[in-house]
Amino acid sequence: MELLDTMLRRRSVRKYAPEKVEKDKLETILKAGLTSASGRGIRPWELIVVEDPETLQKLAGCREPEKNMLAGAGAAIAVIADPEKSSTWVEDCSIVMANMHLMADHLGLGSCWVQCRMRTAHNGQSTEDYVRCILGYPENMKIEAILSVGSLAGHPDPYNEEDLRMDKVHYETY
Ligand SMILES: Cc1cc2nc3c(=O)[nH]c(=O)nc-3n(C[C@H](O)[C@H](O)[C@H](O)COP(=O)(O)O)c2cc1C
Repeated sequence: MELLDTMLRRRSVRKYAPEKVEKDKLETILKAGLTSASGRGIRPWELIVVEDPETLQKLAGCREPEKNMLAGAGAAIAVIADPEKSSTWVEDCSIVMANMHLMADHLGLGSCWVQCRMRTAHNGQSTEDYVRCILGYPENMKIEAILSVGSLAGHPDPYNEEDLRMDKVHYETY
């Protein structure tokens, strides 16, 4: 499949079938994340993989209202970084998220971005503190987002090239 076809097919998937996510596919998704470009090549990120159903259930409370796609997921990948390491940590983490999300779709899995930075958990705590309590990363590390990943129960329609808003593109001047 051409890369643009893969990109057109990519959609956010929030409901999953109960089957586990195969280990090799999960590893390929992680590798896709680790290929990511980063400002000055610093790669300030770390990835935390969660497959334990109880932990996934707890993570679902990371947002208000609860993010049930985490409770129903086969796996979740939290992307954290040390902001002291790079002023572009948000952009760097976002690229990791985007690459992993795209790879998940390419492998026939469903996945969705769960925003964590600047968000509030179901219990009123910051999502930052809530997720740190569960995953145990140190104070200097900040969370950007979590990717929920699961087997497909269904897939929204792919985009067509005709759907692309080419009017958003400006040449030479705005
Ligand atoms: C920065 C960012 C944050 C997002 N946060 C969430 C989120 O917290 N919860 C959610 O269900 N989807 C989230 N999404 C997914 C978007 O809702 C989704 O990409 C958008 O609705 C377009 O749908 P598509 O991904 O199927 O094209 C996020 C996407 C991005 C890029």
